[in-house]
Amino acid sequence: MNKPVLILGATSAIARGTAAAFAARGHALYLASRDLDELQRSAADLHIRYGVEVRYGLFDAEATATHAEFLEKVIAEMHGLEGVVLAFGYLGDQMAARDFKQGARVIAANFTGAVSILSECANYFEPQKRGFIIGISSVAGDRGRQSNYVYGAAKGGLSLFLQGLRNRLFASGVRVITIKPGFVDTAMTFGLPGLFLVASPQKIGEDIVNTLKKSADVVYLPGFWRFIMLIIKHVPEPIFKRMKL
Ligand SMILES: NC(=O)c1ccc[n+]([C@@H]2O[C@H](COP(=O)([O-])OP(=O)(O)OC[C@H]3O[C@@H](n4cnc5c(N)ncnc54)[C@H](OP(=O)(O)O)[C@@H]3O)[C@@H](O)[C@H]2O)c1
Repeated sequence: MNKPVLILGATSAIARGTAAAFAARGHALYLASRDLDELQRSAADLHIRYGVEVRYGLFDAEATATHAEFLEKVIAEMHGLEGVVLAFGYLGDQMAARDFKQGARVIAANFTGAVSILSECANYFEPQKRGFIIGISSVAGDRGRQSNYVYGAAKGGLSLFLQGLRNRLFASGVRVITIKPGFVDTAMTFGLPGLFLVASPQKIGEDIVNTLKKSADVVYLPGFWRFIMLIIKHVPEPIFKRMKL
């Protein structure tokens, strides 16, 4: 089996779990992020462990002018693509809500950059009439909370974008899956206060790949987050605005 998969933000802990799960199923991989040294180590490790072809290259979500050329290069090197996993993301800190320079980076990394590269991917898959796009959004995008609402707004925008893309690509048989993880034990959440029910990135990666065998469009991981977010989304606004979340 070859069926190459492009992993964007491949140095993320969740992406590593996802890449390992794809490699274990025999998929060739293209790993992309801004850290070439780390990508080289990951690529060598995956190749040794699973015996699949693994290539890697530089990708910066914020450098949108480079995205079309980047994707062309990946497609040429891999002789086509079966699917794409968008895993990059940037949480920023509390200052993102008070200092627009920081907020703009959060929006660029999580939303604008994602829209840019996924638009290129969609234009590639649509005429092929096959393929998949898996976008990692977040439960943070389901409701605005004072602790991270710039990140939440960017992820909420990404979820809506993926929904529209799914609607557009359905007719061509290209699957678009939205993943909404809850808390996962990664560099992004390291040391953050108030975390609970924290999942392992390896398990989340396995679950992400397994969504391809199911028909779901929007997947909460672990699954119980669907119920937690159902409750959170239904708290009436006059009460919600008084809560410290
Ligand atoms: N951890 C959680 O609890 C959690 C919960 C919900 C959703 N998520 C989402 O899940 C995804 C993976 O998260 P994680 O916790 O595994 O992340 P992580 O370990 O903190 O890694 C973040 C990744 O994003 C990449 N990245 C950041 N800015 C980038 C940019 N401008 N261009 C390209 N790559 C960029 C980084 O790659 P380089 O630095 O190598 O470029 C890194 O690989 C993210 O989209 C995150 O928002 C995470």
